[in-house]
Amino acid sequence: MSDLRVAALSAAEAAEANDRFAKSEPQEVLKWGLERYGSRIALSSAFGAEDVALVDMLWRLDRKSRVFTLDTLRLPTETYQLMDLIKARYGTNLETYYPNLDTVAAMVKENGFNLFYRAVDFRKLCCGVRKVEPVERALKTVDAWITGLRRDQATTRANVGKVELDEAHPGLVKLNPLADWSSDQVWEYVRAYDIPYNELHDKNYPSIGCGPCTRAVLAGEDPRAGRWWWESDPNAKECGLHVSDPLKDVHITIGGIGKS
Ligand code: ADX
Ligand code: SF4
Repeated sequence: MSDLRVAALSAAEAAEANDRFAKSEPQEVLKWGLERYGSRIALSSAFGAEDVALVDMLWRLDRKSRVFTLDTLRLPTETYQLMDLIKARYGTNLETYYPNLDTVAAMVKENGFNLFYRAVDFRKLCCGVRKVEPVERALKTVDAWITGLRRDQATTRANVGKVELDEAHPGLVKLNPLADWSSDQVWEYVRAYDIPYNELHDKNYPSIGCGPCTRAVLAGEDPRAGRWWWESDPNAKECGLHVSDPLKDVHITIGGIGKS
């Protein structure tokens, strides 16, 4: 993303808005974002419980609110099923971004279909090709984006603000309206409005990403333990969408993605 992009909000305005919404309901943050950015704001949805709650909240505020998703081409069948259900229920014109297929083909040819199991470098490269590059294309269409990040999801997310300047994508504003919600609050909302959700959640999958990189969690395990479960460092358990320079330590290159 170009550093020349003009910031959609000053640092002082972002800090002021973040303070003002500290105790606000998510809908107030969304309303402010929609009023301020109109068609230049969109929800980034992976269709987890947080994201479907946000789809519903946005739909109640503005039927034309935008939702985009990054289809990595490795999502679980249940996620594709849910995407169709959500589109049917809300009439969502789901903006879908795909990885560059030439890059995927080259990556797979050189490193294998399931390269992510080989080492963290390969896993980050795959996330870079299938998620990080596509999100940059998606983010060219907005000044602000909305995510389902919550502070208690991971140590890496403990300081997430409700309104923040996006350090990973300079010039952009990021709204995380559910930052201070618990998982229970999310589920209360999902059940109260009878929102379609991913059926894997009922099979002990609290957090869902790509099929080959997500497993069910055992009783007592961390909710994100099933994501890249073969990796041990909890601070590395991010696909890169919410991280500055996610490929900085990756020593493999494919189609200009990754560093040698
Ligand atoms: S991840 O980094 O581990 O994959 P997680 O699944 O918790 O992230 O999702 C956090 C937020 O990132 C979601 O609420 C959503 O806003 C965004 N996100 C993650 N994956 C995608 C995706 N495939 N498409 C669009 N947004 C996504
Ligand atoms: Fe690739 Fe797994 Fe990342 Fe999906 S989660 S992009 S399959 S490494």
